[in-house]
Amino acid sequence: MRHLPARTTRRRVVGSLAAALLCAAGLAAPAAARDTAGRTAAGPSPTHPAEGGRAATAPVAPGPATKVPDGLALTPPMGFNNWNSTHCRAEFDEAMVKGIADLFVEKGLKEAGYQYVNLDDCWALPERDANGKLVPDPVRFPGGIKAVADYVHAKGLKLGIYTSAGTKTCNSAGFPGALGHERSDARQFADWGVDYLKYDNCNNQGVDARQRYTAMRDALEATGRPIVYSICEWGENKPWEWAADVGHLWRTTGDISDSWGSMLSIMKRNLPLAPYAGPGRWNDPDMLEVGNGGMTDTEYRTHFSLWSIMAAPLLIGSDLRKASPRTFEILGNEEVIAVDQDPLGRQGSVVSSEGGRWVVAKQMKDGSRAVALFNETGSAQSVATTAKAVGLPGADAYTLRDLWQHKSYHTAGRIAATVPAHGTVLLRVSADDKWSHHPPATELALKGGLFVEAGTSAKVTSEVTNLGRTAAQRVTVALGAPAGWAVRATSPSTAAALPTGRTLATTWTVTAPAGTRPGAYDLALKATYRSPQGARAEKELPLTAQVVLAPPAGTSSLGDLPWLSATNGWGPVERDTSNGDSGAGDGRPITIGGTVYAKGLGVHAESTVEYYTGGACEKVTAQVGVDDETIVKGTVAFEIWADGRKAASTGVLTNAMPAQELSADVSGAQTVRLVATDGGDGIDSDHGDWAQASLSC
Ligand code: GLA
Repeated sequence: MRHLPARTTRRRVVGSLAAALLCAAGLAAPAAARDTAGRTAAGPSPTHPAEGGRAATAPVAPGPATKVPDGLALTPPMGFNNWNSTHCRAEFDEAMVKGIADLFVEKGLKEAGYQYVNLDDCWALPERDANGKLVPDPVRFPGGIKAVADYVHAKGLKLGIYTSAGTKTCNSAGFPGALGHERSDARQFADWGVDYLKYDNCNNQGVDARQRYTAMRDALEATGRPIVYSICEWGENKPWEWAADVGHLWRTTGDISDSWGSMLSIMKRNLPLAPYAGPGRWNDPDMLEVGNGGMTDTEYRTHFSLWSIMAAPLLIGSDLRKASPRTFEILGNEEVIAVDQDPLGRQGSVVSSEGGRWVVAKQMKDGSRAVALFNETGSAQSVATTAKAVGLPGADAYTLRDLWQHKSYHTAGRIAATVPAHGTVLLRVSADDKWSHHPPATELALKGGLFVEAGTSAKVTSEVTNLGRTAAQRVTVALGAPAGWAVRATSPSTAAALPTGRTLATTWTVTAPAGTRPGAYDLALKATYRSPQGARAEKELPLTAQVVLAPPAGTSSLGDLPWLSATNGWGPVERDTSNGDSGAGDGRPITIGGTVYAKGLGVHAESTVEYYTGGACEKVTAQVGVDDETIVKGTVAFEIWADGRKAASTGVLTNAMPAQELSADVSGAQTVRLVATDGGDGIDSDHGDWAQASLSC
């Protein structure tokens, strides 16, 4: 492989210039906070680069014009890393790494762009050898690292490795870190044939981050081998502001975990950093959890869609040897990967984000826009924008490609979809002259939540709206329900022609048989129609009906009531105990500011617990706060939502504060949601308590 010395030159110049400026300003290297004891909690929330102030804070001009000197990571790195599936467990070994490389080839993932097979922490022995060299663990890697690299290279893939910019890595077993050994360790990696280094932040001894990461950059360059350099200091020192000339990617947050709340919180912190990303310099919101089991397939598709539109590195974090066909289908979706890998290298930015309905748009090299319509909430929502709002030029109509359905439509300009709870509709929209080849896009929607008490009927209205420039003809709509349910249209369910912007509204009664158990049931709204040229189009909206119990009259403890849904940043929501941390039932008595409460809910931000109130309840009250079990500073803000309305909220509470009373009028609401957010600084240590939470109906 060819090494381009240009990078060395440019980076050195910038590096020493920065150092000179620091010196001139009389600034000593600032000591990193909480740095000597290994792993630390995630740092403060990144500042959101203001539009106008961006140039002042970002030393590298954002945008495509930047010349990347070493030609590495021109698009976000794609590959695999074992950490999210194995941590340090014994299954992380040579057989696993080889098995993943085999599957990359066999399952078409290599062809889809996945290239790096990366080893994380725990590959080495705790002690260096007599010559100060790193020693691979002979049980995990009996043939050594070079043998693994050779195997991976023979498949046309690349190998990555891990160490820390500290005296030891992050694992408590204390594997050697590279601080003070940069040259020799980098040399050893290069000799083994390593192509990628993830450089962590634990046990850094308070040495300035730029200094530590720059030392390894220089050491890697000195080897002459092209090595992608991944900075992993968890966003603590705002690497987006200084690391473009140090590494190719930098972590922007603390560690991801395999939960909806963790993924969501990281996504929210990474999105505002869009101006800093570009070819060879990527924001890294951490590795993928797709397939690890802690989220639904809908949530994993959202995870993958959002990482792609954020031009994030796509490092598979599940053990592909055990992965389901669905996991391969998500990770192998080449139309979505093309969004991530677009050569223009833009990170998508937020167009709007009201009420948990997100529109994120990414400019693509061919002038089209990738558009994510993402629903953060626990119920289906209509998420909408326009071709103009996502930056497309004016046109009669636009081609609209659905990247998960693999179908093309056209729109006169409105871009809209009803998006299931936690789902994402990912589109690619182009102002081209081929739009008339595709049938008009339609938006399917259901008005009124699908809450059914067993044995009774619910009334709902479906809507099919034509978003196209031409009429939708011979429109038919059907509502499918589980066997045994009765579904009846009480108004017309067909239309001969639906012109631009017009809606076919149909009312339905839906009856769940007596004795149906409470819970979520799948329904589907399906529309079929024809374009004026006669092409047949079919559109389906998956729906969830909730079979519910009527809310109990009087005042009830929310810790005793069944909920519709619950999500948590770590572990499950606990009844009448604190969250504990990761397991079910690992909580302690709910305790805030020294006061113990017998009843309530223990959650971990980001968290949402939703209850059915059926328009029959008036009030929710609770004593809220961060549980005393939190050792380091947890920060949580609490909110009570009545349907789509925020009915009450607190500011950011910490574990140094006593419980605060939170009370909300929820009259008329179909559902009530208890929300605990991370206070804007990531979810670490955010154990929130809804003590004495009660509902009056
Ligand atoms: C840190 C990193 C993780 C992982 C572990 C390994 O927590 O942020 O991604 O590498 O260390 O110990």
